[in-house]
Amino acid sequence: MVLQAIKYSRGQLDILDQLKLPHAEEYDHIYSSTDAWHAIKEMRTRGAPAIAIVAALALAVELVNMKLSPVAEEVKAFIVEKLDYLVTSRPTAVNLADAAKKLKKTVEDAAGKQSANGEDVREAYVKAAEKMLVDDVSDNENIGKHGAEWVVKNTEAGKQGPVSMLTHCNTGSLATAGYGTALGVIRSLHSNGSLKHAFCTETRPYNQGSRLTAFELVHDNIPATLITDSMAAALLRLKGSSENIAAIVVGADRVAANGDTANKIGTYQLAFLARGHGVKFLVAAPRTTIDLDTKSGDDIVIEERPGKEVTMVKGPRHDGVSLDLNVVETVSIAANGINVWNPAFDVTPHELIDGIITEVGVVEKDSDGVFHLDEIFKGDDGT
Ligand code: MRU
Repeated sequence: MVLQAIKYSRGQLDILDQLKLPHAEEYDHIYSSTDAWHAIKEMRTRGAPAIAIVAALALAVELVNMKLSPVAEEVKAFIVEKLDYLVTSRPTAVNLADAAKKLKKTVEDAAGKQSANGEDVREAYVKAAEKMLVDDVSDNENIGKHGAEWVVKNTEAGKQGPVSMLTHCNTGSLATAGYGTALGVIRSLHSNGSLKHAFCTETRPYNQGSRLTAFELVHDNIPATLITDSMAAALLRLKGSSENIAAIVVGADRVAANGDTANKIGTYQLAFLARGHGVKFLVAAPRTTIDLDTKSGDDIVIEERPGKEVTMVKGPRHDGVSLDLNVVETVSIAANGINVWNPAFDVTPHELIDGIITEVGVVEKDSDGVFHLDEIFKGDDGT
């Protein structure tokens, strides 16, 4: 069975409810942009590329099922308003803002054509949104291929044989339209016979690692071990045969023009640990995650989430012997009354990043330590 976070056919969208994973695989129907806004805000769907695609497709579904104005300008105005609204759901990942910008351009072009009607604008929008779903999977497969080749060629362990890798958060099929970015690199190494072992962090406080990445690794039969976030330094010191980590590979929510990268909270400390232990640190992301308009990490808005994500955990009841999947409990794991700071992301400075893996290749810094990310957009229309 293929893991699918997003199920789409024209006029219908279902998302896998990631709050219920790994214990239950249930899909929610998404009928409108309002449904998508709530699903994204509540993190029933999450991961930078998946957020953008769900938002774009939700509006496509709404448009296909609604009674449409015959006037092109009115349909365009409706779409633009809904896209502006969708972008407010989560601020850090740029993929959604990037998708909204491109979709606005599509409808502006369609509405600007002579004798265009409402149906023409809708059709142009729906086609462009559907293309995003298809493109994301092929981009991820290419990221996986380029990343795996780079690791084999550029790490000491890779030159000698199969490698062990560490990843953080969830960047797999659940965070994208399919295959994944950083987890796609691990998938690609595995399918080439170049992976010895994968390690994933728990990724507190939302546990994307233990709930989602571990679920994907088990699903794909990839040899893997879960660690808590605080075990990463100890793991990097180990030099046993499977623990000898060749590289840490993570995803991204926004890569600034200079390469500074916003990603799941805890990424920054992993980058420091990698540098301290002589381990390569790689960011894997499609070009839709690279934001040339944001100069550096200082300009990235970091989403802060409710404190209860830190003080509470939720899961099916366990009576000490077995799980009861029918009873979901929320339990407190912190002292009542304590203040909580819960930034969802942090920024890793480009100095700590060895390579940015994209669908068009791996970008490395020049001899002055500068990433030239603008070069990978050359030749693209309108960018
Ligand atoms: O808060 P989340 O779960 O949406 O955060 C996800 C991450 O930080 C991922 O690493 C990133 O979005 C890339 S997903 C391919």
